Amino acid sequence: MFNPMSSSRAACDRKFIIVLVLVIVIESFVMVVPTGFFVLHHRSAKFPLCSMGTCFNFSRCNKDQLLVYSYNDPAPLNPPTYFREFPDSQLQTSDPEKACLFFVYSDTETNENAWWWQKPHLQTLPFWNNGMNHVIITFADRWSETNPPAASIGMASIMSTELHHTAYRGGFDISIPLPRLQQQSPPELASVKPFQRKYFATFKGTRYLSREGAFRSSEAFRGMHSGKDVIVATTCRQETNDKLVRWQPWKATGCEEDQRVYDSYDFVDLLNSTFAFVPAGRSPASYRFLEVLSAGAIPVLIADDYVRPFESLIQWERCLLQFSTHDLHRILPTLRSLPKEDVVDRQCYCQQVFANFLQDDSTLFRSVILSLQQRMT
Ligand SMILES: *[C@@H]1O[C@H](CO)[C@@H](O)[C@H](O)[C@H]1NC(C)=O
Ligand SMILES: *[C@@H]1O[C@H](CO)[C@@H](O)[C@H](O)[C@H]1NC(C)=O
Repeated sequence: MFNPMSSSRAACDRKFIIVLVLVIVIESFVMVVPTGFFVLHHRSAKFPLCSMGTCFNFSRCNKDQLLVYSYNDPAPLNPPTYFREFPDSQLQTSDPEKACLFFVYSDTETNENAWWWQKPHLQTLPFWNNGMNHVIITFADRWSETNPPAASIGMASIMSTELHHTAYRGGFDISIPLPRLQQQSPPELASVKPFQRKYFATFKGTRYLSREGAFRSSEAFRGMHSGKDVIVATTCRQETNDKLVRWQPWKATGCEEDQRVYDSYDFVDLLNSTFAFVPAGRSPASYRFLEVLSAGAIPVLIADDYVRPFESLIQWERCLLQFSTHDLHRILPTLRSLPKEDVVDRQCYCQQVFANFLQDDSTLFRSVILSLQQRMT
């Protein structure tokens, strides 16, 4: 769910129960299928073929002064989005005639609570023009949560925290990061050099017992925990896990032991690490990504098909390492074999990336605008 802290959940309760029953029925079938089959990340939306050349009207735009018309405000929900920086910006226009871009914020409560056949009809937007120069902005975990059917978006582009290489239209869509949520790490931590840090590689977070992110429950993932310089501390306590375990208690194997490990490590202390794992959860994007970067740890992404944020601005391969969820056994041997200078260079580049593009809401919003400008060159 996009917004775990929402107070408006009551409205979805009935819908949730029906969906839960369906999920249990489906899961019962899926149990006979080898795990790994039910990986929903790969079943991503299919957007119409589009590029800046074929789906964009350049003559509406002045690249140095992108004027944007917004249909609605950024979702006033938790987690906060950095698009809230926008209303004060010089780039906003209330005159659709002058606009180069049209922003549609999809993460509204109405959209989230609607059944799929009631999802918003973009065709009803007054300046829709088959989506020409429109940008649909979403922070939701899955396209289908708050958005219309993918085939109906016309010539609009997507700015999303959850873009998959299988659907992504490079140079047209833009991947954006989730903001930081957790408590901030001490500022002095960011400058502690690799190998002078307390740990070599760490993770503290939820493991999922079913569906996407279930690889976090695998022996290959949890087994990286050495209790010494590599810490993998997981908890099974999570809304959908709890519901699943009530019906299928055998799925909670190892949860009690894991909880003891989980309780014995402090989240911020674990960021004093040379590397920090950023595994995909329900969606390949993770709040942890920016938290890890802010603490000066080198992210080790574990995700399939994930389009990394602001791909056109950042040379991610100079900063982080990335592994497929099927390649967990390669992670530690690869990290251990990296030359020291390489690791030091990575941290250095990661720090520049964080400072220039990601460090706070106004920097993040600036990166959004830079990415939009870059599409036009
Ligand atoms: C592109 O924008 C210009 C200026 O607003 C307009 O005159 C023209 O009709 C537009 N073209 C298309 C294909 O929408
Ligand atoms: C990080 O860990 C190192 C090595 O254990 C320690 O010297 C340093 O004080 C720690 N820094 C912070 C900010 O926790």
